[in-house]
Amino acid sequence: MIRTIVVAASENNVIGINNQLPWHLSDDLKFFKKVTLGKPVLMGRKTFESLGRPLPKRLNIVLSRNSISLPEGVLHFSTYEEAITFLEQHNTEEVCVIGGGVVFAEYLHTIDQIFLTRVHTILENGEVFFPELKENEWQKVWEEFHAEDENHNYSFTFQHYKRIQS
Ligand SMILES: NC(=O)c1ccc[n+]([C@@H]2O[C@H](COP(=O)([O-])OP(=O)(O)OC[C@H]3O[C@@H](n4cnc5c(N)ncnc54)[C@H](OP(=O)(O)O)[C@@H]3O)[C@@H](O)[C@H]2O)c1
Repeated sequence: MIRTIVVAASENNVIGINNQLPWHLSDDLKFFKKVTLGKPVLMGRKTFESLGRPLPKRLNIVLSRNSISLPEGVLHFSTYEEAITFLEQHNTEEVCVIGGGVVFAEYLHTIDQIFLTRVHTILENGEVFFPELKENEWQKVWEEFHAEDENHNYSFTFQHYKRIQS
């Protein structure tokens, strides 16, 4: 099963402030939808809370060590490994790990590829961060720049990284 991270991060790796995204970038949300649609999305409890509702047309899986109440159809696992085992037992081809900072930091080492939207700003008030990618572990295989415009407060670059096989 391919394990994919989908994330948007500032130049200094900020991904969250006040349990929210630090920006509203409609074309990045469209890109996120395109990459994740039809696939299971795996996330930490705080990211699910910040979304406020399940992402439609995707199996939503939430990690929490506590018993939590979730909308119908949303799956809960108390460990990452249990979630991965469940998906593998159901012959899932790809899982999208969509955050947040705690989950990225804990499980980056298990990931095969990353769709990183690099948002071209430095945010000094960041609270949640994406881990620094080590150059010798990741190869950028594609990127596409998107300019700032009336719908986008910042310019950004879609980047696709694959893990370098050792
Ligand atoms: N820019 C982006 O692309 C992006 C993407 C996603 C999220 N975000 C932002 O990131 C922030 C949220 O991230 P966060 O780091 O605060 O929290 P998070 O990673 O979303 O959730 C953390 C919680 O997930 C559960 N959890 C994590 N690892 C677990 C494990 N191994 N086993 C069981 N449960 C586990 C725990 O829940 P319990 O405490 O209930 O046990 C933990 O407190 C928000 O600001 C959100 O907007 C940004």
